[in-house]
Amino acid sequence: MRRLSAVHTLNLLALNLLVVAGAQKIASPVPLGIAVAQTSNTALLGQEQVIGAKFAEQFINGRGGINGTPIKLVFQDTGGDEAGAINAFQTLISKDQVVGIVGPTLSQQAFSADPIADRAKVPVLGPSNTAKGIPQIGEFIARVSAPVAVVAPNAVRQALKIDPKIKKVAVLYAQNDAFSTSETGTFQQTVKDQGLTLATVQKFQTTDNDFTTQVTAVLGENVDLVIISGLANDGGNLTKQLRQLGYKGLIIGGNGMNTSNMFPVCQKFCDGVIIAQAYSPAQPSAANQVFVKAYTAQYKKPPPQFAAQAYTGVQVFVDALRVIDRKKKITEWTLPELRIELNRQILLGKYKTPLGDISFDKDGEVIQKDFYVAQIKMKDAKTGSFVYLK
Ligand code: ALA
Repeated sequence: MRRLSAVHTLNLLALNLLVVAGAQKIASPVPLGIAVAQTSNTALLGQEQVIGAKFAEQFINGRGGINGTPIKLVFQDTGGDEAGAINAFQTLISKDQVVGIVGPTLSQQAFSADPIADRAKVPVLGPSNTAKGIPQIGEFIARVSAPVAVVAPNAVRQALKIDPKIKKVAVLYAQNDAFSTSETGTFQQTVKDQGLTLATVQKFQTTDNDFTTQVTAVLGENVDLVIISGLANDGGNLTKQLRQLGYKGLIIGGNGMNTSNMFPVCQKFCDGVIIAQAYSPAQPSAANQVFVKAYTAQYKKPPPQFAAQAYTGVQVFVDALRVIDRKKKITEWTLPELRIELNRQILLGKYKTPLGDISFDKDGEVIQKDFYVAQIKMKDAKTGSFVYLK
């Protein structure tokens, strides 16, 4: 009889392990992956997502988890780039054996990392990816973060209410970031739709610190409104330099600047920046009011958009798991089967969340009703708040 080669034996062993892993039942607590930016400049957004997700874990487990079975969040830091997001996704999928993933932070990262989860048949809920085309990455990709097309125009309409005399507009965007290039497309279209003049379009990089060239070009056009699509650090520095070099008109910032973590960057110059919101603590649903009360009691401030969306991502997973668990107990499922059923159930369900009542279209795009606009009010160089205008 022919002896098995060492390689062949190892291959058989690996195959057996694979079969065993595939047949293994879901453990309690049920592992759910959170892949957001805990380091890098992107952590200015990611920190709020970590808080929102942790709060969801504590709050939901305190109310029985999945019909009595608790969840356990597994965090993998994506950093701010594509490689970090890919690593975090791979670790969560293969090593941590999560049932699904909430993440990543940036659309730029989602376009690289989401296809990996999609191929592995692992459901993903984007908590903050707002670029056009995210849910269309694949059938396992959905998001709770409404896209730029429905969020961004609200900021322009609100700016025109504050100052109906606005005529000339400058638009600036980070050309190395997928979300920023998507959002600026919506902003530029909105400017035209509102009959305003798009006086100049300026590009920058999310890694830039010096915006003298762009600001000089903007000042040369005598505009009444500046619209920035960038992330918190670059967007904050650009805002600051616009003011320092003498720009006096209104400034709109996009979704990547929607965090009080930008305040230490632009300091008192953040004052007055208008930012559209996909969430408001005043959203009147019972689900939101319970959330706001408990969150505010714990953190001594109302939940910001990025935290509320991350919370919602975790909640949608748990709500879908509860429905599945009623048919067959979660701990009786094997991982590959559960991941597929979970994706199916996420897309079927209706959810009462802090964002209001939401559901998903067939692509996994969030269907959400209420949107808002807020304006930054700085108290001093470091502290400020978002004042809701609508
Ligand atoms: N909304 C930003 C993005 O999609 C954070 O990248």
